[in-house]
Amino acid sequence: MARQLDEQIAGRFPVGRRLRVLDVGMGQGTQALRLARAGHQVTGLERDATMIAVARESLAREPEGIRERMRIIEGDGRDTGVHFLPGSFDVVLCHGVLMYVEEPDPLVAGLARMLAPGGLLSLVVRNGDALAMRPGLSGDWAGALAAFDTTAYTNRLGLDVRADRLKNLTATLAGIGAPLHTWYGIRVFTDTAADGAGAPGDLETLLAVEERAGRTDPYRGVAALLHLCGVRG
Ligand SMILES: C[S@@+](CC[C@H](N)C(=O)[O-])C[C@H]1O[C@@H](n2cnc3c(N)ncnc32)[C@H](O)[C@@H]1O
Repeated sequence: MARQLDEQIAGRFPVGRRLRVLDVGMGQGTQALRLARAGHQVTGLERDATMIAVARESLAREPEGIRERMRIIEGDGRDTGVHFLPGSFDVVLCHGVLMYVEEPDPLVAGLARMLAPGGLLSLVVRNGDALAMRPGLSGDWAGALAAFDTTAYTNRLGLDVRADRLKNLTATLAGIGAPLHTWYGIRVFTDTAADGAGAPGDLETLLAVEERAGRTDPYRGVAALLHLCGVRG
């Protein structure tokens, strides 16, 4: 995902430009910190106090120059309009959050409003077109059969959440003035890896395979996650 995002940023903005980045639902801040280290001005918005504490601890360990480039705000991603001015970011990330939101369209519309013209909206969602893959590849035939006709699923934390279909999100993005520019698959071959499985010795080759599959039909269409990149008109 990071490589996909960097590719989109490199193709859209001049090299070396300090971008204003908003990461909504930043979790422990992995991407937010990575982008701050890369020289960007990053705002992380997160509603979970525990996650915020972890992100703050990580940030505290960074050199001063990076600490100054990142701010962390506790709040709900549905309230971006309360926290920020419209058009005040070049890049808005919302990764792994839509699963938890009952009505994604207002949230996504709010994110698009935060973008300056030409800005990049990067969404990572659970692929609602391929929900039968995980149970199917695990031999859970009843689960696979049921997964064809729904976008609801239970995640590995045991939470009942929802997935998004590419067609629906494409229509949403077009309707809010940030039409889909590119999309990728994430976790085409690795979705059934056990929780806590360590990285294999040939990690670089694994990443090369995933990266290739994530941009190649038909593989990307059955990825566990979709990475959608919209561009504000
Ligand atoms: C699966 S984690 C993803 C974290 C990070 N974006 C990543 O990709 O690694 C989802 C995060 O979204 C946060 N979240 C969920 N709904 C949210 C909302 N409405 N507003 C802000 N954060 C939210 C959760 O607290 C959690 O930290």
